[in-house]
Amino acid sequence: MVSLKRLSGVMEHPTAYRLWQSPFASAKFAPVLRHNDLSRVRRVLDVGCGPGTNAAFFANTDYVGLDINESYVRTARRRHGREFITADACTYEAPPDDRFDFILLNSLLHHIDTANVERILRQLHDQLTDDGHIHVLELVLPDKNGLPRLLAKSDRGDFPRALDQWRELFAAAFDELVFEPYTVGRLGIAFFEMVYFKGKARR
Ligand SMILES: C[S@@+](CC[C@H](N)C(=O)[O-])C[C@H]1O[C@@H](n2cnc3c(N)ncnc32)[C@H](O)[C@@H]1O
Repeated sequence: MVSLKRLSGVMEHPTAYRLWQSPFASAKFAPVLRHNDLSRVRRVLDVGCGPGTNAAFFANTDYVGLDINESYVRTARRRHGREFITADACTYEAPPDDRFDFILLNSLLHHIDTANVERILRQLHDQLTDDGHIHVLELVLPDKNGLPRLLAKSDRGDFPRALDQWRELFAAAFDELVFEPYTVGRLGIAFFEMVYFKGKARR
């Protein structure tokens, strides 16, 4: 497990990360497409955007990606020519009145400790337009032993959480519209247990 975790440091390199993620990227994002009509989205904030994994879904939408990894951000800019900011989501101060109707966190929060998750979600709450939604895709730590639990425990992110812990964190900040657990796999093998949360701001 320790050596798997050490190996995951290689993923800091954008090409290594894209190669590892590419078989799973569509399946991870699938619940967002199932529950939303992206052609109606006006302005997207993609927090923890990586090397621009999800940017192509928003090709015709105003889009801002944010990530702490400068090398991911450089790759994302080169590939997509969109607005990408290098920043730490834990300390980032959003410009006043900067609002989005679609805020996406795809696999960010399992990298973040609980106090900072609470802080980030509070700030993003205030960045949603009145008709906007937050969309969170997260890695679940299953109870039962098996590949999804092993991969969650050996992930670069130190904070994969059980389903009920995710639900509690999301519900503390947003009104829940969707909370949908799902499995991401290949060739009939389950690799990751995930959850999709869609919420709206409490006003
Ligand atoms: C598992 S990757 C997901 C990347 C992308 N969202 C995707 O769907 O492929 C987690 C991302 O969160 C970023 N990240 C981790 N901690 C962060 C922080 N404190 N602030 C901003 N980004 C962070 C990492 O650099 C990485 O790109």
